[in-house]
Amino acid sequence: MRRSVIGSAKALSNRSCQNHWNVLLLRPLASSPSRFLSSTSVLDSPPPPPSSMLPVSLDNINPKVLKCEYAVRGEIVTLAQALQEELKSKPGSHPFDEILYCNIGNPQSLGQQPITFFREVLALCDHPSILDRSETQGLFSADAIERAWQILDQIPGRATGAYSHSQGIKGLRDTIAAGIEARDGFPADPNDIFLTDGASPAVHMMMQLLIRSEKDGILCPIPQYPLYSASIALHGGALVPYYLDEATGWGLEVSELKKQLADAKSKGITPRALVVINPGNPTGQVLAEDNQRGIVEFCKQEGLVLLADEVYQENVYVPEKKFDSFKKVARSMGYGEKDISLVSFQSVSKGYYGECGKRGGYMEVTGFGPEIREQIYKVASVNLCSNISGQILASLVMSPPKVNFFSYLFVSYACDIWIYNPGLDQPKL
Ligand SMILES: Cc1ncc(COP(=O)(O)O)c(C=O)c1O
Repeated sequence: MRRSVIGSAKALSNRSCQNHWNVLLLRPLASSPSRFLSSTSVLDSPPPPPSSMLPVSLDNINPKVLKCEYAVRGEIVTLAQALQEELKSKPGSHPFDEILYCNIGNPQSLGQQPITFFREVLALCDHPSILDRSETQGLFSADAIERAWQILDQIPGRATGAYSHSQGIKGLRDTIAAGIEARDGFPADPNDIFLTDGASPAVHMMMQLLIRSEKDGILCPIPQYPLYSASIALHGGALVPYYLDEATGWGLEVSELKKQLADAKSKGITPRALVVINPGNPTGQVLAEDNQRGIVEFCKQEGLVLLADEVYQENVYVPEKKFDSFKKVARSMGYGEKDISLVSFQSVSKGYYGECGKRGGYMEVTGFGPEIREQIYKVASVNLCSNISGQILASLVMSPPKVNFFSYLFVSYACDIWIYNPGLDQPKL
């Protein structure tokens, strides 16, 4: 019984759950009468006091919060949680015994197992005193032990419980910059990296920087991942939609960008940035290099910041397609720091790692003057720093075990798939 749950979760996490559709799977009970919704629920708990008795009401909260919508965590999820509570308090009360949450790309919640190497390094960094124990050699892989030592040496006082530099631990940013360089074939500067608690806070930070009023517009793909509409609403800007074309595999036409840009300008909106999600969510498209060049050119000509959401860079499932970062494309066109302002978002939540709950990620900020960088640094400092486990994971994701190292074949048995370093030949098993 339990196995079949994991089996379906496995299939989901392998194939579709990295992208978000508002889907909740209700796993049916073998033979139970159909009672989809019961009349009682957790909503039966004592009613809260009327808002009129409280100082905060919907009439006097920040209207930007009211305007903000976040569909993937909205009504359907609330209903699912209520149903789940009912299943707990009254087993058999519904014709299913479990709810699988497919509304958000959260593969480990569906049974995908974490990558052993990453978890070993994290565990060792968090409890360094076991590094010197003889049993550790038997319990942990040699390269995880070695990597943990390397990372701990980069952390002041080897203290993973201490705040770090607001941009993140310098040694980890060095590793990430080296990983970007190896991926793109163009230099990356550790000082351009801001480590964050996942990509979401990084996106918020950029929206906070760019949006001054409702007259500032951000071009966003439709369909989109609702982080963008939500954060634009929260920061009080205008979402300028551009539509992906399903007929051409959810292609992004520059002519459509031009049309929407002109339309926004005619309404008195100042477009500030273009969001591109590549590979796409929820569409899954992978942009061709030619298309990316057109987008870079468009941003350069229109003076738009290119906000490149590249969190799905490892989720390319079509053999003839390949991920290229926007920075690589821009640099290969000969455009440097002075030509285009570009922010790339990366996350530990996606890819084969799916470490959503660890909250790790970074943004690489290029093409901004030192005075603006200082402002971004100031905003990052307000949060003190991102969490250290997330920082470590971000460095591991951008620098996974190399061929010939024990953990190179860091296999996730739960997914039944071999993961190997992209760009290298698959090792002989
Ligand atoms: C396209 C896209 N960007 C950003 C995120 C945010 O990821 P996180 O904040 O977990 O790094 C998600 C999450 O699913 C996403 O789908």
